[in-house]
Amino acid sequence: MKIFRSHVLVCGGTGCSSSKSALIRERFEEKIKEVNLDNEVQVVVTGCFGLCEEGPVVIIYPEGTFYARMTVDRVDEIVEEHLLKGRIVRKYLFDESAKNEQITPLSEVGFYKKQKRVALRNCGLINPENVQEYIARDGYMALGKVLTEMTPEEVVKLVKDSGLKGRGGAGFSTGMKWSFAAPNKADQKYVICNADEGDPGAFMDRSVLEGDPHAVLEAMAIAGYAIGATKGFIYVRAEYPIAVHRLEVAIKQAKELGLLGKNLFGTDFDFDIEIRLGAGAFVCGEETALMQSIEGKRGMSRNKPPFPANKGLWGKPTIINNVETLANVPQIVLNGPEWFRSFGTEKSPGTKVFALGGKINNTGLVEVPMGTTLKEVIYDIGGGCPNGKEFKAVQTGGPSGGCLTKDHLDIPIDYDNLIAVGSMMGSGGMIVMDEDNCMVDIARFFLDFTVDESCGKCTPCREGTKRMLEILDKITEGKGTMEDLDRLEKLAMNIKETSLCGLGQTAPNPVLSTLKYFRDEYEAHVVEKRCPSGVCQSLLKYIITMDCRGCTKCSRICPVGAIEGKVKEVHVIDQDKCIKCGSCMDACTFHAIIKK
Ligand SMILES: Cc1cc2nc3c(=O)[nH]c(=O)nc-3n(C[C@H](O)[C@H](O)[C@H](O)COP(=O)(O)O)c2cc1C
Ligand code: SF4
Ligand code: SF4
Ligand code: SF4
Ligand code: FES
Repeated sequence: MKIFRSHVLVCGGTGCSSSKSALIRERFEEKIKEVNLDNEVQVVVTGCFGLCEEGPVVIIYPEGTFYARMTVDRVDEIVEEHLLKGRIVRKYLFDESAKNEQITPLSEVGFYKKQKRVALRNCGLINPENVQEYIARDGYMALGKVLTEMTPEEVVKLVKDSGLKGRGGAGFSTGMKWSFAAPNKADQKYVICNADEGDPGAFMDRSVLEGDPHAVLEAMAIAGYAIGATKGFIYVRAEYPIAVHRLEVAIKQAKELGLLGKNLFGTDFDFDIEIRLGAGAFVCGEETALMQSIEGKRGMSRNKPPFPANKGLWGKPTIINNVETLANVPQIVLNGPEWFRSFGTEKSPGTKVFALGGKINNTGLVEVPMGTTLKEVIYDIGGGCPNGKEFKAVQTGGPSGGCLTKDHLDIPIDYDNLIAVGSMMGSGGMIVMDEDNCMVDIARFFLDFTVDESCGKCTPCREGTKRMLEILDKITEGKGTMEDLDRLEKLAMNIKETSLCGLGQTAPNPVLSTLKYFRDEYEAHVVEKRCPSGVCQSLLKYIITMDCRGCTKCSRICPVGAIEGKVKEVHVIDQDKCIKCGSCMDACTFHAIIKK
C-alpha cells in the first residue's frame, strides 16, 4: 500500500459542498500535481467535520491543522507554503487554532474538546466512498465477529446489555426491540434504517450517511443476523442527494467484496440492502407511515399494536432503527457493552449527536456523552450567542420537543431529564434562541410546521392543530384574549391525549413549554398588545427618535409615504399609514429609527 507523508482532507458534507468544496478539492489536486507532490500528498474527500459554520473546511494531517472558510484562491498558497515548505499559513487557520503562538491541533480546539465521537467516529476522517478506508478503521470486523463467533441470541443480549436506546426520538431500548422480533417465525423478516430525518434544523443522520455509510450497512447486517432477517431497506429522503449517492456507492462496494449478499463471511447468512427514497414528509419518519410508504402507499400512520416487530413491512416481522442508533452498533460489538456504558449516564448510556443551530456561534454537528449539560453544549462547544446577545432559550426535540430556559442550562442531557422539564431529546435538533427571538413566534413556527405535515387521518391532529395555530395567529396579531391562552392549553392537552400517532401526540409541546416558561411574553402580546422582542409584525411600531438629523432619506424610501418632516428637522411616522416594512430603519445611517 502506498504511504503518503501528508493528507489533505477536504470536507464533502452537504454544508461544505454547497459552498463549493468540490472546486477546492480539484484545485488542491491540480496544484499538488503541478509542484510534483502527488506521490507524497494525498487529497481525501470526507464527510462533515462538525464545524459547518466555518466551512468549507480543510484539515491537513499529520499536523491536524484546521483551515476554515477556505476558498479556491487560497489553495495555491497553502500548497506552496504548507505542503512544500512546511510553513503553516496562519492567516487562513480557524481563529481558535491560531490564538497563541502555538498552533492548536484539531482535537484541542474548544469545539471538539468536550466531544466524544462514537457514531461520528469516522466522519471527517475517511473517504466515505472508499470501503478500504472503512475497513482500515476496523470496518466490517464487528459483522465478521457476530457471524463467526456469536449466536443471534448473544448479539441481541449484547445490544441489550449495552443499554443503547433508539436515537430516532422515542429512546426505546434497541436490544429489547430486537428481542421482540427475533423469536417470531416468518418466511421473511426485514430490517429498516430510518433516514427520513424530517425535523426542521436536524442533519445528524444525513451527516452520518454522508461521512460513514458503511457503518450503517454493517449495523443493518448485524441486526439482520440478530433477528433472522435477510433483507434491509434504507428509507432516505430524496432531498439528501449526497447521502443517497454515498449509500449507493457503499452498497455496490460492499456487494463486490462479499460484505453484503449471499453467504457472508463464508457462513450461510445472506443479507441484502435496498434504498427507498422518501418525498420529504415529516410523518413518513413515523415507523408505521414509513412502512406504508415503502409498500408504495400514501404515508399515513396506523394504530399500534400490532408493532412492526410482529407485523411490519408487508405484514412480516420488521425492526426499524434510526441511522445514529445503527451507527453505534458495530462499535458496541467490537468494544463490548461495558465500554459503551462507561460514558453517558446510568439510564442513557453512550453519546448523542446534536445538530446545533439558531443563534449560536459554532453552528454544526456535535457528539457528546449523555449527561453533558446544556450549558457545556451551548457555551463550551457552541461558543454562545453571536454578537454579544443574551441567551434566551433552547429548543430541543424539534416539533415534538419544547423550549427550555436559562434555568435549565445545568441539566445533564439525557432522555429522562429533558422529558422531566417538558421537552425531549427527539432526534437531536438543538436550536438556540437569543433575546431577539419571540417565543410566541417560535411556538407558532413549529405549529405551522406540524399543521402542514399532519397526515390528516385523525381529527384531533388534523383539526386541533389548525385551531391552535389560528389562536396563535390571533395572539401574534395583537387580537388575543386571556381566554385564548386557556383555550390554547386545553386544546393542546386534548390533542396530546387523543391523537393517533406521535406527530399529533407531541405537536402541542412547543406551545405548552413556551406557555409554561415564557407566559409573560404571551401576556405581553395579549394584555399590552406588545411583542417584547420586536418580532411580531402587527404589534411593531417604528418610531423616529430625537437623534434624527432630518436628512429625509427615510421619507424618500418609505413605500407608502408614511414619514413626514422638513429638511434638518426631526421626522415623524404616521402609524396608521405605516405597513412596517422596516425599510426606513435600514436606510437611516444615524440610527434614529427604532422598533418598539
Ligand atoms: C412524526 C414522527 C416522525 C418521526 N421521524 C423520524 C425520523 O425522521 N427518523 C427516525 O429515525 N425516527 C423518526 N421517528 C421515530 C420512528 O417512528 C421510530 O421510533 C424510530 O425510527 C425507531 O428507531 P430507533 O429505535 O432506533 O430510534 C418519528 C416519529 C414520529 C412520530
Ligand atoms: S396524529 Fe396527525 S399525523 Fe398522526 S395519524 Fe393523526 S393526523 Fe396523522
Ligand atoms: S433617515 Fe434617519 S436621520 Fe434621516 S430623516 Fe429619517 S430618521 Fe431622520
Ligand atoms: S416601516 Fe416601512 S412603511 Fe413604515 S414608515 Fe418605515 S418605510 Fe414607511
Ligand atoms: S459539512 Fe463541512 S464541516 Fe459540516
